[in-house]
Amino acid sequence: MFQNDLLKGKTIIVTGGGTGLGKAMATRCAQLGAQLVLTSRDLGHLEPTAEEMRKQGADVLTVPCDVRQPESVEAMVAKAIERFGKLDGLVNNAAGNFLCPSEKLSYNGFNSIVQIVLYGAFNCTTTVGRQFIKQGTGGTILSICTTYAWTGSAYVLPSAVAKSGVLIMTRSLAVEWARHKIRLNAIAPGPFPTEGAWSRLAPPGMGEEMIAKKIPAGRFGRHDELANLAAYLLADGSGYITGECVTIDGGEWLMGGEFNEYTKHDPTAVAQMMEMMRPKK
Ligand code: HXC
Ligand code: NAP
Repeated sequence: MFQNDLLKGKTIIVTGGGTGLGKAMATRCAQLGAQLVLTSRDLGHLEPTAEEMRKQGADVLTVPCDVRQPESVEAMVAKAIERFGKLDGLVNNAAGNFLCPSEKLSYNGFNSIVQIVLYGAFNCTTTVGRQFIKQGTGGTILSICTTYAWTGSAYVLPSAVAKSGVLIMTRSLAVEWARHKIRLNAIAPGPFPTEGAWSRLAPPGMGEEMIAKKIPAGRFGRHDELANLAAYLLADGSGYITGECVTIDGGEWLMGGEFNEYTKHDPTAVAQMMEMMRPKK
């Protein structure tokens, strides 16, 4: 789909880059010549992915960082600069999510998701943005959003409000930072099977079937399809695209909001099912 050196010489940070879609996007960027900084809370998620990528010849730095903590983000970016000298791209991919009836949601439950998704994206975007401005080179910031950022969705209220904020941040800064040659775009994926999302959002025997049935394309997304879209938006060839959110969902959102289907079931059974999915401490 692309020339092999599409991203040659570019240094790209991927938050949540050790697992799922972050791993897929990071791997594709590395195949296209980029140097990668993989970051998330757990080095145990980052190092195995980095090792796989290094075996394919990629130059990869792993830095543990909690995107909720501004100092942690600043330290991560400083390590990236120390190693690679400059930055060209950031993928705001780290997220937290779970299904929960909103009347049962605790303050801390709401806060933890909003802190990871919205504050995390803000912390990374402004820290990397300042670096782009300092370098004078410009750069590209890509945020992984969701289609319910504009439709809303039952049972994922904190994620919906946070992703919606990330989308508006993308559009606001696309205007404000255009003069610094910084582009900001978003991707809204439909359902792409990952361990992280499926274990929290697709209740066994109910979720997966329900989601697949309502996708006009009749299937889930493939990781390589998302990774190619991300590579395109990070590449110089898409230089006139900014403030945009590209949906990649097989037509799913046009058929109705993401988890709204659950409202058609008995609410007590739904609440019990969601409670069963909750990790036991
Ligand atoms: C209700 C829950 C809950 C659940 C946690 N909480 N899980 N409430 N239902 N299933 C509450 C806890 O009780 C606690 O509140 C608060 O949330 C914080 O929980 P902790 O476990 O202490 O938080 P932490 O260790 O920081 O973990 C964050 C996390 C966890 C978000 C809860 O799931 C995580 O680490 N997630 C990262 C990966 C992830 O979520 N990936 C999925 C992304 S998929 P109290 O009040 O008890 O203190 C995605 C897809 C979108 O976004 C679209 C799909 C189509
Ligand atoms: P995932 O594998 O669970 O990815 C989430 C990542 O975020 C993990 O690598 C996790 O790593 C990291 N993370 C969580 N909290 C963090 C924190 N405080 N600081 C730093 N990193 C943190 O799930 P995924 O499905 O690939 O999701 C990736 C992105 O796609 C998310 O933005 C999600 O909302 C979006 N998305 C996914 C789907 C889908 O169907 N899969 C659909 C729409 C949108 P650690 O645990 O190591 O911190």
